[in-house]
Amino acid sequence: MNTEVLKNRYPNLNPEELFPDFPRIPMTGYPELEGYTWEDCHRGFKGAGGLFLVFDTARRMKLEAGMRILDLCCGNCASSIFLAKHFDVSVVAADIGVDPTDNWKRVQEAGLEDRVLPIRMDATQLLLPYEYFDAVFCMNSYFYFGTDDAYLPYLIRFLVNGGRIGIASPCYADELSPETPPEYYFDAPGFAESHAVHSPQWWRKHFEKEKSVEILTCEASPWGREYWLDDVRWLIEECHPRHRETKMREMVLQQILMLLIDQNRFVTYLNLVAEKQTG
Ligand SMILES: C[S@@+](CC[C@H](N)C(=O)[O-])C[C@H]1O[C@@H](n2cnc3c(N)ncnc32)[C@H](O)[C@@H]1O
Repeated sequence: MNTEVLKNRYPNLNPEELFPDFPRIPMTGYPELEGYTWEDCHRGFKGAGGLFLVFDTARRMKLEAGMRILDLCCGNCASSIFLAKHFDVSVVAADIGVDPTDNWKRVQEAGLEDRVLPIRMDATQLLLPYEYFDAVFCMNSYFYFGTDDAYLPYLIRFLVNGGRIGIASPCYADELSPETPPEYYFDAPGFAESHAVHSPQWWRKHFEKEKSVEILTCEASPWGREYWLDDVRWLIEECHPRHRETKMREMVLQQILMLLIDQNRFVTYLNLVAEKQTG
């Protein structure tokens, strides 16, 4: 859809008009998610990617049954429940902003009381034992605190030797510059996030500063744009623009415009897996 037409007609347009530009991720590409509907793959998530991204990241991290996982910034713990159920791991599901009692109810509904422990905790003040976790999984959140040079050396204290960190997070193909079109900034009013959203090259250099981790993967996901398009599709299907509060409507419009303009996959997703070395 032409962006000028869109701006003039939004939000008074039929959401179906946007569907061709914002395809769903096809379930046929994920035979492992058999039994889930496309809607199931999105429900409960607070960022893009849903179960598709959880699955892709977990596979890259090579999770094994019986591992202890920290789901850092778990949100509504949809990822924690999925990891416990499908990878047969135990999960501590930590988030500062979500009530752990609400998450506990979700865990109970999933029948995973012996596998997932929701806690309220700040990622920068983890009240957890050192050298306890086999892996840290962090989706749609690491850039909130992980750009600090002191954070990775701090986080790896909680991992066993050989333990892995898997990050799945919005990223840009390149760093922002004065020439970057304003549409590529996804800052909500009073909440400027874009400058913490770096390129895979930036993240590689950032992680290389910590000598006791080996970077196993640090690249733009081949499906980065597809996660974004699919998430906008979820937002326009699930929350019709006319029915939502202004702030949400503006956020969705901003993402629609950004993705329509971005024909070169500048806005994408980071795949980062790093391993703590035996020291
Ligand atoms: C965009 S949501 C992503 C949630 C979830 N991982 C997902 O993909 O659905 C970001 C989450 O990070 C949490 N968060 C942000 N800063 C945090 C911090 N310092 N410690 C713990 N949680 C934090 C927020 O409360 C929020 O639930």
